[in-house]
Amino acid sequence: LQTQAEAFAPSNIALCKYWGKRQAALNLPVNSSLSISLGELGTRTRLQVIDAPSDEVWLNGQQLDADSRFVRKVSQFIDLFRSLTPARFRVTTHNNIPTAAGLASSASGFAALTLALAGIYAIPRDGRSLSRIARMGSGSASRSLFCGFAQWHKGELDDGSDSFAEVLSEAWPDLRIGVVEITTAEKSVDSRAGMTRTTDSCLLYEKWPQQAARDLQTLRQAIAAQDFTLLGETAEHNALSMHATMIASWPPLLYWQPASIEAMQQVWQCRAQGIEVYFTMDAGPNIKLLFQQHSIEAVRACFPTMTVVDPWHGPDPLQG
Ligand code: DP6
Repeated sequence: LQTQAEAFAPSNIALCKYWGKRQAALNLPVNSSLSISLGELGTRTRLQVIDAPSDEVWLNGQQLDADSRFVRKVSQFIDLFRSLTPARFRVTTHNNIPTAAGLASSASGFAALTLALAGIYAIPRDGRSLSRIARMGSGSASRSLFCGFAQWHKGELDDGSDSFAEVLSEAWPDLRIGVVEITTAEKSVDSRAGMTRTTDSCLLYEKWPQQAARDLQTLRQAIAAQDFTLLGETAEHNALSMHATMIASWPPLLYWQPASIEAMQQVWQCRAQGIEVYFTMDAGPNIKLLFQQHSIEAVRACFPTMTVVDPWHGPDPLQG
């Protein structure tokens, strides 16, 4: 057992979304998904073995209440490893992205924690097997162990052994993500509860697995051909379709704020003027823009406050 370890994992944004679980205990998804990492935006986590009766969790410089949901989730996740050798930890974690505002910080959080635990327990940094473990903390975390595009295979087996993510070999050096922050307020219904509500009450959801499968194939083609229009159209359509199932749930799940809708309309206006930009959104009000490096100035003129991310510019989590 190492006495300390540290790791970084980038956040990721799905171009084909994970929405719905076929099995909750092992976190097995209804559909496969495909994402792109957010480069230097993510979570850095440090673990130290401590002599104490329970884990201590620090988030962005503040110690969290031992009874909080977050701390319980983190401790339960570490229990997966404690069966190897019991130990208690001080977990010090820093996000350089807003927590719980739909910027997938649970994804980078559980991915960084998985990597740090792999350091403590001297587990090889193998993408597939660590991805299976990270998945148990948060589904989207399975995709946050990689730089660039990652695909999470939903798998078929009940034990989850074939439900893991892997990196796609294609790079797309010209691709940029623009993060447009609408609000950093914590969201009211987290993804887990949102998915349950959708699968329990939304009749439109029946069609979702079919759309996700089709969109994933189209995205793979777009990536192979570096066809930006096809990539952007497919990602935007996929995000809006997921939000349609949320809105058609009961009670309704509407993550959008008036400013989110304004930003969507601005994107459509840009396209009408010949600026090639698309958007995607997760279970929160913030918008992520997709564009190519050569459009950066035109896009910035419409979204002066956006943070621009180069997905391939950042540490490789598995090497670090
Ligand atoms: C809308 O991975 O946060 O961002 O597995 O319950 O922790 P849990 O859910 P989570 O859900 C992410 C949902 C999404 C789409 C996506 O990232 O694919």
